[in-house]
Amino acid sequence: MYAQIQFACLLVAVCLVGSISAQVYSRGPCPEVTVQENFDVNRYLGIWYEAARFYTTFQKDSRCVVANYTLKDNGHINVLNSGYFPGEGYGSDVGDGKPNPDNPAKIGLKFNTLQPRGKYWVLDTDYDTYTLVHSCSSFFDLFNVQLNWILVRDSSLSTGDASKIQPQLTKFEKQGIYIDRFQFYGHVNCPPKDTGV
Ligand SMILES: *[C@@H]1O[C@H](CO)[C@@H](O)[C@H](O)[C@H]1NC(C)=O
Repeated sequence: MYAQIQFACLLVAVCLVGSISAQVYSRGPCPEVTVQENFDVNRYLGIWYEAARFYTTFQKDSRCVVANYTLKDNGHINVLNSGYFPGEGYGSDVGDGKPNPDNPAKIGLKFNTLQPRGKYWVLDTDYDTYTLVHSCSSFFDLFNVQLNWILVRDSSLSTGDASKIQPQLTKFEKQGIYIDRFQFYGHVNCPPKDTGV
């Protein structure tokens, strides 16, 4: 059950506050990043495969992580995340993404009604191949906690081999993100969903 709750925090930096010692944190304020210009939510919808992520306790050793984004009537994004947790099977959670009207690449995301929205910022996407997702919370500018993801449309780019997504890693690096902190679980040996073994 605890794992499920933790997984519900996927992509929501605010959940990190509770388990900060086990997250990736750095000294100083959040990096000054730029987000995707003229972000087009409609082109962003659909299936994305996780190819790389920063370490988090709530994602643990999960692999085969898939995000499915659909548009709601109110213009929000329905977020359906699923992943395979070794020894536990597949877990999934549903969240609500609200694009900032002034800058839709800055999405506020939460997984339950009581939770404040965490940052889900699209730094760079071509909509058809990759997206770079960034979330950062700063604590009085003394230190910051970051989550970063590289998601891809084609799961064959997500094999655990970093070289397949080197251009995307370089883009992150140019934005001041420490890319040596990425982990690459990928979509290899994904068990069939119906067995959950
Ligand atoms: C994505 O989510 C939508 C809405 O829930 C669903 O209709 C669709 O089947 C999902 N796609 C996949 C590949 O799971």
